Amino acid sequence: MRDSRLGFGLLGAGLIAPFHARALQASALTELIAVADLDPARLEKMTSTFGCKGCDSLDAMLEDPEIDVISVITPNHLHHDAVVKAAAAGKHVLIEKPPAMSLAEVDSMAAACKAAGVKACVTVQCRARKAVQAIRAAIDNGRFGKIYHADAYMKWFRSTEYYKTDAWRVSRRSGAGVTINQAFHYVDLLQYLVGPAITVQARMNNLAHPEINLEDTLLAFIDYECGAQGVVQASTALWPGTDVRIEINGENGTAIMSGERMDTWKFRDDRPEDAEIRQYGSMSAATGATGAADLGFQDHQVVIEDLANAILNGGEPMITLETVRPTLEWSLAMYLSAKLGVPVTLPIQDETAVW
Ligand SMILES: NC(=O)c1ccc[n+]([C@@H]2O[C@H](COP(=O)([O-])OP(=O)(O)OC[C@H]3O[C@@H](n4cnc5c(N)ncnc54)[C@H](O)[C@@H]3O)[C@@H](O)[C@H]2O)c1
Repeated sequence: MRDSRLGFGLLGAGLIAPFHARALQASALTELIAVADLDPARLEKMTSTFGCKGCDSLDAMLEDPEIDVISVITPNHLHHDAVVKAAAAGKHVLIEKPPAMSLAEVDSMAAACKAAGVKACVTVQCRARKAVQAIRAAIDNGRFGKIYHADAYMKWFRSTEYYKTDAWRVSRRSGAGVTINQAFHYVDLLQYLVGPAITVQARMNNLAHPEINLEDTLLAFIDYECGAQGVVQASTALWPGTDVRIEINGENGTAIMSGERMDTWKFRDDRPEDAEIRQYGSMSAATGATGAADLGFQDHQVVIEDLANAILNGGEPMITLETVRPTLEWSLAMYLSAKLGVPVTLPIQDETAVW
């Protein structure tokens, strides 16, 4: 820590790294100290752009007393070992989504952080959006009444070239399929807003990327414990890509978020604050629909500052490993369902059967 700012070290200098760096540099609570990557060219680009130290390994960052938090932003299948190692060295961790590739890994990461007395937080940053928080508050306050439907529609586009930029992006076991990679944020929103689920049924196929051996399209049906039903439609095959829609329909109201915008916010008991809520997200433009770099860093900043506050003032961050674990379980259940051709009841009995 320097000047009462928490020092961060980024493990990974790839596509998402500049978003973390910008968020850290925009915050009064945090400072970007170092970046580590195995790829010297990517490392050099990050250190020269953001004016921070460059390291060739996680170990070098773990020895740096100025670093309080390691942001694990390596490919999806590499998160677990880095998190366990960072926790053992007494560093707090910020973990990119999906937190890991198995529930056993998530439990092991959570246990390691607990044993070391460090905080862990996952960047499912869409939860931080004002429109999402408004929907969550309306659900908590019973404004929807009985919820009938909770759906996510992610009609995106990613080119074959995008998939070919890194070996992990074409490997299912590395977490490259649309279900566990791109759709994770929106499955997470359904889980966060309306979960838990009882059963998940899914169908997956490859519509537009014949050279890549992955599902680029997911159709899933969810039966929620609260009695609602839902659809997840997620694809990276649908050019040019349009804004994600999250739709919640209850007996007394409907909310539809498009991208970050609250497109529909209607309740039988119209309230004075509703006019302002209808404007939430209206200025946002970058929603990830058309390309992986089509993102703002502000949502990341909210999540990072929330973690920083938990470290500085005590308490848990808003997005813990425990609160994201069910999202991973739903995603794995979708893979299992698509593989077996039957609905899967939660909790998953044997996750080793998933792949
Ligand atoms: N929250 C979001 O909206 C969002 C958006 C994009 C990516 N992500 C997540 O961020 C993570 C990284 O994605 P990306 O698109 O930046 O991937 P990427 O492949 O572009 O970058 C990952 C980097 O990690 C480096 N790396 C791999 N192993 C390493 C090691 N042992 N030590 C140091 N560096 C190592 C690679 O060389 C690479 O530069 C993934 O978990 C992904 O799902 C999240």
